[in-house]
Amino acid sequence: MAILIRNARVLTMARGPRPRRGAALRELGIVEQGDVIIERERIVAVGQSLSMPPALRVIEADGRVLMPGFVDCHTHACWAGDRLGEWELRLKGATYQEILAAGGGIMSTVRAVREASQVQLAGALAARLEVMLRHGTTTAEVKSGYGLSTEDELKMLRAIREAGEEWEGTAVPTALLGHAIDPAQPGFVQQTIRRTLPAVHEEFPEVAVDAFCEQGAWSADDATLLLQHAGALGHPLRIHADQFTSQGMVARAIGMKAVSIDHLEASTPEDLARLAASSTFGVILPCCGLNLDGRYAKARQLVDAGGLLAMATNFNPGSAPTPSMPMAIALAVRFCGLSPAEAIAAGTINAATLLGLRDRGAVAPGQRADLILLRHTDERMLAYEIGGNPVDAVICGGRLVPPVEVFR
Ligand code: NIG
Repeated sequence: MAILIRNARVLTMARGPRPRRGAALRELGIVEQGDVIIERERIVAVGQSLSMPPALRVIEADGRVLMPGFVDCHTHACWAGDRLGEWELRLKGATYQEILAAGGGIMSTVRAVREASQVQLAGALAARLEVMLRHGTTTAEVKSGYGLSTEDELKMLRAIREAGEEWEGTAVPTALLGHAIDPAQPGFVQQTIRRTLPAVHEEFPEVAVDAFCEQGAWSADDATLLLQHAGALGHPLRIHADQFTSQGMVARAIGMKAVSIDHLEASTPEDLARLAASSTFGVILPCCGLNLDGRYAKARQLVDAGGLLAMATNFNPGSAPTPSMPMAIALAVRFCGLSPAEAIAAGTINAATLLGLRDRGAVAPGQRADLILLRHTDERMLAYEIGGNPVDAVICGGRLVPPVEVFR
């Protein structure tokens, strides 16, 4: 049955270039008192006082904000175990990097993931995707990276595919083959490049390949080698860079035409200027700053210099244990210098374009009907409110997400 959403403040994101750069990032394309008609999984009409097709379900928005579902373009939402003990150590003063250097952190989740079955991983991810959906995320990128052996990386990617097939939203897998260095595997970097990458390429030829370039993780030389091999096989390239220290990876990744460089908390002004002048997205992950050490990427500089910006939760058990894009928006506005409108565009239309999904991220005829209706009549409330769930209703692929069953 068709759906009509009536009398909404519609953030269409439909005017201006795609993806957005510079001042265009602020352009939300607002239609006041707007109606949106959905048939099957697509948006078919957007405007004011639309004439209604005969059989349809009507949702009265009463002036509330209707906007594209969030596209969370950087997550590690597939994991097993927990890091509660390490989190308590951090509360007592241990740093993320000290814990990683002592064999914990990413490596402790790697151990838990290796012990879990594909079914268990898919189940854990499915539960998290459901929570993300309730907070307005209708498309989520999910990285592997806690397997770090050929078999365990494939197990993770299969689990992400399995959970994604069952989910109402869209899960986009990324092969994070260079997440940490496994000290138990001699020649780990070569092993990853010679054995794991070809095996992943065979079964998942379309996925992006990613690495974490940092002291105690992958060096710039090794990350470059991995990405060069992945690029030669046709994989889109992504990189975690400048989270704690600048390793010179930004210039290299731009040179390799990487799709995105994610984190950027420790980037130099020169590297941000370089990134702004390129066609590579900068992805900011402000929930890390809140959870780890109060350092945030200087997104204002990137946007003012005309760069491509996207934003994500980075949902993971170590640096950013949150499924909430509204939380990421609230932090990006407070600590990364973005306006609410810029943060919204970075988490919708730009994030979708980064993932190669041009069929979503805007409210326009032909776009996939992934929409959220906020509890608010002013979208700035998304950034103003901290810690609540501002989403009243989610429509995903043209279907209204049913309310949670609390009684069985
Ligand atoms: O992007 N820094 C590397 N990877 C994740 C953290 C993963 C973890 O701690 O488990 C990040 O912050």
